[in-house]
Amino acid sequence: MTWEELEKQCNECTKCELCKTRTNTVFGCGNRNADIMFIGEAPGEKEDLSGTPFVGRAGQLFDKYLEAVGIEREDVYIANMLKCRPPKNRDPLPSEQDMCIEYLRDQIRLIKPKMIVCLGRISAMRLIDPNYKITVQHGQWVRKGNFDMTAVFHPSLLLRDPRKKEDMLTDMKEIKRRLDLIRS
Ligand code: URA
Repeated sequence: MTWEELEKQCNECTKCELCKTRTNTVFGCGNRNADIMFIGEAPGEKEDLSGTPFVGRAGQLFDKYLEAVGIEREDVYIANMLKCRPPKNRDPLPSEQDMCIEYLRDQIRLIKPKMIVCLGRISAMRLIDPNYKITVQHGQWVRKGNFDMTAVFHPSLLLRDPRKKEDMLTDMKEIKRRLDLIRS
């Protein structure tokens, strides 16, 4: 599977109902040789309109954390569990996740990152542990297969609950520290 084949398959996907309401698929963006991947939930309105993940309000806040800890957005790869926007930004259904996850798995196979960071509860529950408790476990690291994995609060949660911003900064600093270690 090449990037071109995968992106074409994804862009033409009609496996679930979300294809009927999408403007664009939101495949993923960034460095295809990245050491680290960030994985969010699903595109929102701005992402659906632009075809790029994390460009709306939550994405802009996430960019601030990347900048604050000295990670370049161009150095990382950013993707979502779902490639199409759920109507009114509702949570992705398990059936939609089941149908879409293979695109993400292929992206991970192609990139072979050393670290995977789940942005929020939904991707952490799918990729780390079905019983993942983001309020308790955020920032904890686990080794799964070939990857060091963690989860941090979803930036849209931080917009709703700014008290969690301090923990987010701590977790992001640790991500940067580990990134520097694997690069040294
Ligand atoms: N929230 C997500 O999980 N992903 C995006 O791309 C935008 C908002």
